[in-house]
Amino acid sequence: MKTQVAIIGSGPSGLMLGHLLRQAGLDAVILERQTEEHVLSRIRAGVLETVTTDILEDLDIADRMNTEGLPHDGFNLADGERLIRIDVKGLTDSHVMVYGQTEVTKDLIDAAPSRGLEIIWEAADVALHDVESDAPYVTYKKDGAEYRIDARFIAGCDGFHGPSRKAVPDAIGRPFEKVYPFGWLGILADVPPCNHELIYANHERGFALASMRSMSRSRYYIQVPLTEKVEDWPDDKLWDELCRRLPPEAAKNVARGPALEKSIAPLRSYVFEPMRHGSLFLAGDSAHIVPPTGAKGLNLAASDVRYLSRALISWFEKNDNDAVAAYSEQALARVWKSERFSWQLTMLMHRFPDDGPFDRRVQVAELDYIASSEAAQRTIAENYIGLPL
Ligand code: APR
Ligand code: PHB
Repeated sequence: MKTQVAIIGSGPSGLMLGHLLRQAGLDAVILERQTEEHVLSRIRAGVLETVTTDILEDLDIADRMNTEGLPHDGFNLADGERLIRIDVKGLTDSHVMVYGQTEVTKDLIDAAPSRGLEIIWEAADVALHDVESDAPYVTYKKDGAEYRIDARFIAGCDGFHGPSRKAVPDAIGRPFEKVYPFGWLGILADVPPCNHELIYANHERGFALASMRSMSRSRYYIQVPLTEKVEDWPDDKLWDELCRRLPPEAAKNVARGPALEKSIAPLRSYVFEPMRHGSLFLAGDSAHIVPPTGAKGLNLAASDVRYLSRALISWFEKNDNDAVAAYSEQALARVWKSERFSWQLTMLMHRFPDDGPFDRRVQVAELDYIASSEAAQRTIAENYIGLPL
């Protein structure tokens, strides 16, 4: 098979990129290791910046998001009993959209056939070849047969564990990493949220987050040591611990229900440079990971593919090498700003096992400053809604 852009991975990056290229009349094929059902069962974050909602709007795949999504004009930082509201709308004249990543993925997958975007599910042993040349290709196996796709470019949208990043030689690629000494234990349940806006809570027992997917489906997280197992957290124990950590006003509104999903995710900051090698481009989690504090993962995937699709379209339409050459630097500039924000919010809101009284006093001072300074709140709000492309 021959295509213009072979895309590896059918997560948000690969799907949005595939649609943006198809919209411009380019040929693209997506190779995905998992089944469609598996991809649609993954629960991830659910706060969309304008960069992401704009892509769905421009693709005309935004109807369900606009009907079911919840625009949020603010969110809260809590410290013990204290609640600091960040008036996102008042400070930036913008808002974020609460709409689950799972739903975004579903909408993009559902629209694929009618837009001529082919997704090959259960593609095994995907391997990249000749990425330094002008004629790279991808091989994979399916149902016992081996296939080859020749392309002009390959887009590595295969997440943190996929093969694309590994196709960049060690002498060229440079990873930057920070690992945090805890994870987030998440629970999804069909109960109304305890508060109409998100609450990020710093508590002496550890961080907690009250979030939602809709007015009848809640998503909560608590910080746990990496040694914890999901099996150690029956629902009741998790609800009890969550209620201890949220500010009292919110805790008393927590409605309990059976877990639809419960899992522990480690926290990590990671950036791989450069995001291009020859005919291979990395986008989304294949090139960078943010801790979930701030919900930047999906939104960074969106900005990457916005830059990348523009560059590729310009290359195919105008033979323009400059945009393609600028991709890595352009994407990384925005990536690092979101990395900084997610790292800072993580440091501010969590309790670290090695922290002493000094570190805690610094957290309290920063929260005091945020509570008292509109400039500080504006900085947070501006980063939360997403910096301009
Ligand atoms: N072959 C083909 N596909 C692969 C391979 C492989 N060897 N390895 C991984 N994949 C697929 C995964 O199964 C997954 O569907 O690549 C996809 C990568 O998707 P994500 O991990 O969701 O990454 P991305 O699309 O960049 O999305 C970034 O979405 O998933 C969240 O936490 C993530 O919020 C971040 C954002
Ligand atoms: C979520 O709803 O899953 C969520 C929301 C905000 C975050 C992280 C996760 O910062």
